[in-house]
Amino acid sequence: MSKHTASQLVKVEGLPMCPAVLSGLMQALKDPDTTISDLARLLSSDPSLTVKVLRVVNSAFYSLPRRIYGVEQACFRLGFREIWSLTVAAQMSSVYAEVDTKWGRETLWDHVLQVGLMARALAQRKHGLMPEELFTAGILHDIGKLALARHDPTGCTEIYGQGVHGRLALDAEQQRWNTTHDELGAMLLRNWKIPEALAGLVERHHDVDWNDQNGNGASLLAASDALVRAIVVEGNGGGDLVRLELTDSGLTTNLSRNLGLETSDCVRIATEVMRDYEELVQHFK
Ligand SMILES: [Fe+2]
Ligand SMILES: [Fe+2]
Repeated sequence: MSKHTASQLVKVEGLPMCPAVLSGLMQALKDPDTTISDLARLLSSDPSLTVKVLRVVNSAFYSLPRRIYGVEQACFRLGFREIWSLTVAAQMSSVYAEVDTKWGRETLWDHVLQVGLMARALAQRKHGLMPEELFTAGILHDIGKLALARHDPTGCTEIYGQGVHGRLALDAEQQRWNTTHDELGAMLLRNWKIPEALAGLVERHHDVDWNDQNGNGASLLAASDALVRAIVVEGNGGGDLVRLELTDSGLTTNLSRNLGLETSDCVRIATEVMRDYEELVQHFK
């Protein structure tokens, strides 16, 4: 297979188009005059999307005391940004479902949903970060792999099917495609006119530099990715037991230093994340 640069890949391969509702959502986020009614109107153009969002809103994840019947009501209850991030996730669940990405036990959608939930949970513990934004960044972070799966499914199976990830996967990608999924993902999102803050997080989701103030969100996303990869779920008859196989001492030091999280805290958060994932994954179908 000939080698491409990321930009050639985006051009030549006709990578996934930005779904119409998604570009409307991105515009809505950028425009300070956007109202809750505008968001509701945007969603009303896609009834199946609305159904998905309302299913999530009424799920045990939020455990709201009363049932919510409409998008406007959901925004009043949970906030515009929260509903915005759920809508992006609901839309992206369909985009991820278009391509076969089951290289291991789980699909890419399962992975990004878990990372989104982990990033949201960690961002709630770090002052100055927006949990909804980190959730969306988690949902989008490996979109480059989705583009690669469309472009070269065999190559993806060869690389990701071996369970290769992190730096090793990036090296293998560079060798095979002359680009990496973080670079390609960011380029795709910029093509989609996704806000630069999100594209930048996706671009840097394998760089961990907690000392860089601007990079804190990216470091948190990288830590979320690593934590999700470390999760081992064991059925013990009376419910699943979650443990973490943490082999990277740099990660545990950073989690402790930057987020005040010791390993026992991480196990507790991972347990909650997996419980939330099990709850949400069925509603996003
Ligand atoms: Fe990645
Ligand atoms: Fe990832």
